[in-house]
Amino acid sequence: MNVLFVASECAPFVKTGGLADVVGALPKALAASGVAVRILLPAYPALAPVVAQGREVYASSGSAFGPLRVVAARSAELDLLLLDAPQLFARPGNPYLEGPGRDYPDNHLRFGALSHVGAILAREGVDGFLPDILHAHDWQAGLAPAYLALTPGRSVTSVITIHNIAFQGVFGAHLLPQLELPLQGFNVDGFEYYGNFSFLKAGVVYADRITTVSPTYARELTDPAFGFGFEGIVAARRGRLSGILNGVDLDVWNPAKDPDLVKCYTGAAPTKRVANRAALEARFGLSLAPDAPLFCVVSRLTRQKGIDLLVDVLPRLVARGAGLVVLGSGDMDLEVRLRAAAAAWPERIGVELGYDEPLSHLMQGGADSIIIPSRFEPCGLTQLYGLRYGCLPLVARTGGLADTVIDGNSVALASGVATGFQFAPVTAAALGDAIDRACDVFADKKAWRTMMTNAMRQRVGWDKSAAQYRNLYESALQEAAAPRD
Ligand code: ADP
Ligand code: GLC
Repeated sequence: MNVLFVASECAPFVKTGGLADVVGALPKALAASGVAVRILLPAYPALAPVVAQGREVYASSGSAFGPLRVVAARSAELDLLLLDAPQLFARPGNPYLEGPGRDYPDNHLRFGALSHVGAILAREGVDGFLPDILHAHDWQAGLAPAYLALTPGRSVTSVITIHNIAFQGVFGAHLLPQLELPLQGFNVDGFEYYGNFSFLKAGVVYADRITTVSPTYARELTDPAFGFGFEGIVAARRGRLSGILNGVDLDVWNPAKDPDLVKCYTGAAPTKRVANRAALEARFGLSLAPDAPLFCVVSRLTRQKGIDLLVDVLPRLVARGAGLVVLGSGDMDLEVRLRAAAAAWPERIGVELGYDEPLSHLMQGGADSIIIPSRFEPCGLTQLYGLRYGCLPLVARTGGLADTVIDGNSVALASGVATGFQFAPVTAAALGDAIDRACDVFADKKAWRTMMTNAMRQRVGWDKSAAQYRNLYESALQEAAAPRD
């Protein structure tokens, strides 16, 4: 089976978050189950060296998007199709923003072109590869199912995965004529959205299947508290919606051979992690008692991630003798508050503002627990890395966090199955209580060690979820092939 991924990020080339990790890892897991994936990705400057080694497999000069060409190349074990259109993508830095908090004004054209070319390649095939399925990821690829449904040509089954429904790709209706999209779709049952149009709505309405990245988030999506206005649109297609958990690239995230750790270790001897913790403390200038836990955060610093709740409980965390190291960037007010906390408690709290992949590995390998207080979390990957590294996740009970962590309540502790801590409701008070509970368990070395071993034993790889994607592709193809009554 051949599947064309259409996506705006892919690790290790371009990454702003978990979407990139998924797009970079799932194709490898699918290959192992007989599904061949090619990934259509914008040729951002970071991909220039890969473009230089590739060969042109598609070119068009006559579209509304300006000259477009696609270069095929294999790199990092992935088969890439790079959309080379310098007028749209030859811009360094963040793939979506021209400055802090400011989207590029032509994002509709940039990702309209990506979706448009995705539909063409899916339909016509490329480089000897004829896709059975087009699999669009997030709003940036959301128009691809609409192009397939509304323009003439070979019919191709489409799937869209919603990685985060808060991002909907909404643009003014006056921009629509620039996109070569049939205007018949501009209505309430199509991509029209309160007088504007939405890339994500187009994907949800026109794709044959809709997936999201955890079973709990799939349920939450039809709830007004989580749907960001899309709850009705998703509910109308409930029968086509499913939740499939993300996994971890076990080669990239492996504490037994991770070059970014000071000391590698396995679940058989997780206490070797202390060398990594010492390195972390030194790097951040902390000085903690060995019997006090070191918490960490690796995250976008935004309201979604509940970082404000964590800042609110820092006096409580410090009063327990615990420490905290934070790696992230995002909202200015949160950055300012975190910096102030590090200045107030320099031996307990360390903050690094920025993006640092190697440091994120050392934090998972050295901190005792990773705190993820998200208000909503479609799946979340850092708690999965935490499980794999024995950095016990302390998480809000929502979305994929609820689906992947076994709370260390008294029953789970007594029966030895706990892998972390969950809290609800998502408030500072409940987070503070969970931090207290974690500190209590940390004081019991045996109990904590059992939790680390359990956590590291969890199957967080992609194999099970890749099989679910394969089944989903098969059932969508069977349905498309069945005669309609
Ligand atoms: P989201 O995609 O919503 O940001 P995820 O948990 O799915 O959340 O994925 C976040 C990914 O980005 C993880 O791989 C995490 O390790 C990484 N990450 C987030 N912030 C940073 C940072 N400042 N430095 C390095 N990696 C980061
Ligand atoms: C989004 C979500 C995150 C998820 C990631 C990959 O960024 O916020 O929860 O893990 O996509 O699916």
